[in-house]
Amino acid sequence: MPLLEVRDLGVRYGSVAAVRGVSFTCDAGEIVTLVGPNGAGKTSILNAVAGALESARLTGDVRFDDVPILGDAPERIVHRGISLVPEGRRIFTTLTVGENLRLGATPHGGSAEDMVSVLERFPILAEFRRRPAGLLSGGQQQQLALARALLARPRVLLLDEPSLGLAPQVVGDLFRAIADLRDEGIGIVLVEQHARRAMKLASRCHVMGHGTFVQGLEGSDVAEVVGAYFGGDALP
Ligand SMILES: Nc1ncnc2c1ncn2[C@@H]1O[C@H](COP(=O)(O)OP(=O)(O)OP(=O)(O)O)[C@@H](O)[C@H]1O
Ligand SMILES: [Mg+2]
Repeated sequence: MPLLEVRDLGVRYGSVAAVRGVSFTCDAGEIVTLVGPNGAGKTSILNAVAGALESARLTGDVRFDDVPILGDAPERIVHRGISLVPEGRRIFTTLTVGENLRLGATPHGGSAEDMVSVLERFPILAEFRRRPAGLLSGGQQQQLALARALLARPRVLLLDEPSLGLAPQVVGDLFRAIADLRDEGIGIVLVEQHARRAMKLASRCHVMGHGTFVQGLEGSDVAEVVGAYFGGDALP
């Protein structure tokens, strides 16, 4: 039984059917990517799984460790072991790095020991702990968003376009950090525009058209088919 199983997920905003019939799984220690054009429904899928869509109508079934979680409150889902790093990072720019991190603490994660472990993983955050987060570079802010999510000790991480707006060198560092988390046994659902790079890490790629999956790919088929959908320019 997979750790995270999404079956026939549907998301509607009023009369807009943003996601239809989406199914995928993510196991411990693997990276699954979702790629697709703007407005395809990638963020809606991650937010639905994380319980972060209050006003949408959700259908289908999402199971974590075989327990149905679709429609549960976000804090309950975090508590079960799923953490979302949202699109645009959503860090609090006027709060310090340390204050932002403390906001990631939950009843079962965020102890002094957990804090030491994330600061060891991202040493720059330790150095800048007392600075307002708004003064960090884009790459450092993304590290902060990841670190905050890790404080809840997730077993599955949902990452929504973590590389967006980052310089190529920084994207390389970020993808290495994501691969390390995978190697430590965390399951990762990765929404990415750097499709080719993401695919090097992923065990499966789901390509989205509007609202639904149009291709499921494994291994070497991926670069070719993703290229057909997105063209060479979108593939750094
Ligand atoms: N709160 C909302 N209310 C109404 N429609 C919404 C809402 N959020 C998203 N949508 C619509 O749902 C569709 C899917 O949006 P979503 O943000 O999930 O796509 P996406 O694949 O993440 O896009 P992007 O690549 O731009 O981040 C779009 O048509 C969008 O306009
Ligand atoms: Mg999105």
